[in-house]
Amino acid sequence: MDVSEAKDAIHSLLGRVSPRALPKVIQWMRTSSEIEELTTSNSDILLHNIADSLRNHLPLEAMVLSEDLAIENIQRLQKPTLHVDAFLYNDDTIDSLCEEGKMSRNYCMSCGSTKTAPLDFLSHSFSILELKFLFHNVIPDLSGKTLLDVGSRLGAVLYAGYVYSSASKLEGVEINAEFCNLQEKIINKYNFSDRIQVHHSDICSQKSLLQQADVVVLNNVFEYFLKKEEQIKAWIFIYENLRKKGCLVVTVPSLQESFNKLQVNLQLSQWAEEVEVDTDIFLGPDTDQEALSDIHLYRVL
Ligand SMILES: C[S@@+](CC[C@H](N)C(=O)[O-])C[C@H]1O[C@@H](n2cnc3c(N)ncnc32)[C@H](O)[C@@H]1O
Repeated sequence: MDVSEAKDAIHSLLGRVSPRALPKVIQWMRTSSEIEELTTSNSDILLHNIADSLRNHLPLEAMVLSEDLAIENIQRLQKPTLHVDAFLYNDDTIDSLCEEGKMSRNYCMSCGSTKTAPLDFLSHSFSILELKFLFHNVIPDLSGKTLLDVGSRLGAVLYAGYVYSSASKLEGVEINAEFCNLQEKIINKYNFSDRIQVHHSDICSQKSLLQQADVVVLNNVFEYFLKKEEQIKAWIFIYENLRKKGCLVVTVPSLQESFNKLQVNLQLSQWAEEVEVDTDIFLGPDTDQEALSDIHLYRVL
């Protein structure tokens, strides 16, 4: 049943409910956890289990000492900012950690006082809800296709691609060896090696992966991790080698925003066209519409 058939069926069903009962039925549809549970699948549960396993291998801040530049860049931000990995921690887990005193949503503005202000949170991974949105609502059917995640980090995009899509190959390229080892552990533990492969490498030495992929994901990939000149070099390399006609490119933030920040003059309109993403969707009670609208989709011309 597609969306319009489902709407027709619900209309016709509600049309048969007595006028006295109708407000109660609508209230139940809007607030009941039974309806919310319909949005949870076994695949979601598997991803939550993977997040559990990963949390056991990482410190709370989910960053490693070898990414000193990224740590420094976060510390240099104007507003006090905490890295909270959205794949590992959803709102409920953050609330529990705050209650246990292990995490805080606020910082003290003048030490010793009760004057506090909210911390900014930054995530280096997509959340499980964003990943579900990506594979169910942004990227079309991936049967027989190859997806490449540039900067695969914890492997969140790859595991989600495994459980939510029929992609025949899910490739990750990650420059940080510690994160590659962690991804290998998960791939072996969950038997994902028939479709997932991770390369410990700089994307700038992986021309053929870029040239062959059908879908390429670039989630905040370079900004915190590379110096400005290296970021420019990496974007030029991607621009020159991601040329397969029809290839889909998923980015956060938009390509325009990344290019403008770096003042790099690449002819976007001659390379790719933006495809509209419909974010008017309910994925669960934690759906963050703003985060969904940061996701941009392009088709290579
Ligand atoms: C923000 S994380 C993206 C995580 C993941 N793709 C996701 O969406 O959940 C960016 C990752 O890109 C990696 N990275 C940065 N520059 C890279 C490069 N030139 N080649 C490969 N990986 C790179 C970083 O080490 C970091 O782990």
